Amino acid sequence: MLRVSDLHVYYDTIHALKGVSFSVEKGELVTLLGANGAGKTTTLKTLSGLLRPRSGKVELEGAALENVAPHEIVRRGVAHVPEGRKVFPRFTVLENLQIGGYSRAKASLGPELEFVFELFPRLRDRQKQIAGTLSGGEQQMLAISRGLMAKPKLLFLDEPSMGLAPKIVEQILENIRAINRAGVTVLLVEQNAAMALAISHRGYVLETGSVILEGSADELAGNDLVRQAYLGG
Ligand SMILES: Nc1ncnc2c1ncn2[C@@H]1O[C@H](COP(=O)(O)OP(=O)(O)OP(=O)(O)O)[C@@H](O)[C@H]1O
Ligand SMILES: [Mg+2]
Repeated sequence: MLRVSDLHVYYDTIHALKGVSFSVEKGELVTLLGANGAGKTTTLKTLSGLLRPRSGKVELEGAALENVAPHEIVRRGVAHVPEGRKVFPRFTVLENLQIGGYSRAKASLGPELEFVFELFPRLRDRQKQIAGTLSGGEQQMLAISRGLMAKPKLLFLDEPSMGLAPKIVEQILENIRAINRAGVTVLLVEQNAAMALAISHRGYVLETGSVILEGSADELAGNDLVRQAYLGG
């Protein structure tokens, strides 16, 4: 479904991605692991058109994405839930969800609203609440839901566990698994390797802008390097 080949991305003179290649098949839940500064966010931003690669290819279902505008990438079925759960803090929960569905505003958003409210019943109860007053976990649920309102085939999630209590993280990862089982292909970026691998089919490890390891979730969870670097021995 998604094929990334030899991607090079720069911030001015900083060479942030140095030939990143990986792929995600339809229906998969794939994790990109890596430490601070490895290039995880840069990779997602490039795939969703927010950054332009200096060279390399990104293909979605066989069509090139490197020079496609971000809103058009959304229209083609890709939603990106950014790092740091950027909800619109002054808008209500429902308004945030409607903004997420903007690319399909003419279609009825009813079925998608029902889908996210079933996943996150707490959002149904808090539809009229101002998003900035939600807890961190609720804001993350809203950020993911806003992405789902675009009815994506492919969902990018940038560190959904960041800054949340372990119990909430567990809940959100269960929700991500449920989203994947409902038919949405997921590319998850995480520092929380143990949790991410527990719900993933496969994964890649990024280090200073390069993929240094890939494998099934079980292979990676058993790999010595991954265990030492990301699973605390
Ligand atoms: N706006 C920017 N300007 C300059 N350099 C940047 C910018 N954003 C990221 N970088 C650099 O690019 C590299 C990759 O950063 P990136 O944010 O993709 O890492 P990350 O894996 O998402 O890290 P984290 O886990 O901290 O979110 C780092 O060296 C970072 O300092
Ligand atoms: Mg990041």
